[in-house]
Amino acid sequence: MTVLKIVQYGEPVLRAETKEVPKVSAKIQKLVEDMFDTMYANNGVGLAAPQIGEAKRIFVLDVSTDDKPAPQMVFINPVIVKKEGAMISWEGCLSFPNVFIDVKRYASVTVRAKDIKGRTFVMTPEPESLLCRAIQHEMDHLNGILFVDHVIDRFGADALLKENNLPMIDPSKILSEPDLDQVLQCSI
Ligand code: NI
Repeated sequence: MTVLKIVQYGEPVLRAETKEVPKVSAKIQKLVEDMFDTMYANNGVGLAAPQIGEAKRIFVLDVSTDDKPAPQMVFINPVIVKKEGAMISWEGCLSFPNVFIDVKRYASVTVRAKDIKGRTFVMTPEPESLLCRAIQHEMDHLNGILFVDHVIDRFGADALLKENNLPMIDPSKILSEPDLDQVLQCSI
């Protein structure tokens, strides 16, 4: 069991570009195992490779709850092939200890990726489910995007970041999301 150090918000690798995994080798499988060990040791639901300093297109998820077990899920070279609707999602991130904020997300996504054995799969989780939101959150990590870039209340989030000795939100990174705004304004 190997628990790796989790990169904190402010470190450049969280904003770096990531590379596709050319082959799901034994080395990659070991990395995935270490990612699960690191995620569980920190009570996380998901972890992306940049969060352990690896600029690779890999993330792992385990959305199990006490009354509803879920399998370990590995996403290698994932692509979101469909996205629909919008929702507000309350999220945290292992790279932002103790910071939980509301962010904008799609209500439904379909993802295509390779599993730990290199087999391609396509998945459409239940709309608005934790799995659906977690896939979007982790997918972002592979593109140098962080959950705070989807913030709804920037100044509220800044106060929380400051309390936790993390850098403030970078306004130039806040995403313009007219498709989400349009739906959310109708439903609020
Ligand atoms: Ni995260």
